[in-house]
Amino acid sequence: MAKPSSVFVCTSCGAQTRQFFGKCAACGSWNTLVEQKAGPAADSRRRRPVAAAAGVKALEGGSAGQPRRSEPIQAVGERALQRLSSGYGEFDRVLGGGLVPGSLVLVGGDPGIGKSTLLLQSACSMAGRASVLYVSAEESAQQVKLRWRRLAPTTQTDVAPSANFQLLAETDLELVLQELESLRPAVAIIDSIQALHDGELASAPGSVAQVRECAAALARIAKRQDTALLLVGHVTKEGALAGPKVLEHLVDAVLTFEGDRFASHRLLRAVKNRFGATHELGVFEMRDRGLAEVTNPSELFLGGDEPSAGTATIVACEGTRPLVVELQALVSTTSYASPRRSATGIAVGRLHQILAVLEKHLGLPLSRFDCYLAVAGGLEVEEPAADLGVATAVVASYRDLTLPPGTVLVGELGLGGQLRPVGQLELRLQEAARLGFTRAVLPKGSGLAKTAASLGLQLLEAGTVAEALVAALGVNPADDRA
Ligand code: TYD
Ligand code: MG
Repeated sequence: MAKPSSVFVCTSCGAQTRQFFGKCAACGSWNTLVEQKAGPAADSRRRRPVAAAAGVKALEGGSAGQPRRSEPIQAVGERALQRLSSGYGEFDRVLGGGLVPGSLVLVGGDPGIGKSTLLLQSACSMAGRASVLYVSAEESAQQVKLRWRRLAPTTQTDVAPSANFQLLAETDLELVLQELESLRPAVAIIDSIQALHDGELASAPGSVAQVRECAAALARIAKRQDTALLLVGHVTKEGALAGPKVLEHLVDAVLTFEGDRFASHRLLRAVKNRFGATHELGVFEMRDRGLAEVTNPSELFLGGDEPSAGTATIVACEGTRPLVVELQALVSTTSYASPRRSATGIAVGRLHQILAVLEKHLGLPLSRFDCYLAVAGGLEVEEPAADLGVATAVVASYRDLTLPPGTVLVGELGLGGQLRPVGQLELRLQEAARLGFTRAVLPKGSGLAKTAASLGLQLLEAGTVAEALVAALGVNPADDRA
């Protein structure tokens, strides 16, 4: 039963009731009532209202009791951000150069993907330089110890001083807060936020109300004592972090840890980062003794085999990181009334659009063919810069052509069949050259002739997709005799 200190608030209209209903009596919306602390009176024991604490405040830790006044922006004191390295270059890159004291970082991902492993490894490494508290709310201290043993050869925990590493297996929020206040660690890891439980709320652990209250309470303490907090969050069935994104605006950075269950590599990405760029990518490989960094990921996303019909290589950019990635297409006569289209690693809507452009502007009858597209290595490519590569792979499969070896393609396709310029071309060319590629097909007007020459790359510029295909394949795919 709900304790008197909590009320249910409608997230749609704001109406409050003492009792839970499926439907809000005030506005009639369904499933919008969420449990909350009743108000300042019930709250005064230790916490200020949630809204005041939400994330933004007090990197400089304002003293309690003193009302804060506005001041000219020039007069605001600046403090250089002292970042703490996680011990892993790939992790630091995604964080924006390391962990910022007092910041809140949410690490989300599917169960079993390796969140606990990543954080335990970093914790071991950071403990050599700063005090770390690891709160395990899901696994017992024994289980964490076992994992720690398993990781020991990788993290060299037996060698490094680990007195700075405190472990607490606890699910009660109150006890976790007490420990945080008494230890005042530089870094605290909460694994996971969904498993913590605030006894003042009747809702079950993992519910919206619990997750929000627990995170807000931890955030207040962390900001006050400059503890960097790493929160583990589970992804719900719908793929959102901690259900209704309750935490995403509360924290400074949201990282997602993803990967294919059947492959060993794992990708860490920043979805939001107040202290660094988003879309940065860190690549790891899960081994039997923990996660190892992959510092040359392009090798992972290249097929490695001899070029074959229907493959094309692109240079994608993830944040500031160029990645050479192989695309594979299969185009075959359909036996269905409406042809099948499927894409892994690229939005299927994008594939439809590219197929339509090819049909219209090159006159290829692709609507009578099934079309499958896959990105090697399980990478998700969202950039439109991959368009030309997709188009080339599709046409190459349709015509059974093999691209000359050492070719990369970069460019966005307009609906009119024109090739549009894309960003960070120089970086992409450098990466292609580094990996031994010798030809690059780019949109016209890149202004990179000199750069390409100095990199030993043959530059082929094209204004339309048709021109680009002729340049890349050496024949005109629209010509039926090709
Ligand atoms: P885990 O970190 O527990 O995942 P999460 O916290 O995201 O749920 O990782 C679990 C998986 O990783 C599990 O299937 C076992 C595997 N694993 C390894 O392959 N090697 C290792 O060294 C460790 C510790 C785990
Ligand atoms: Mg875990």
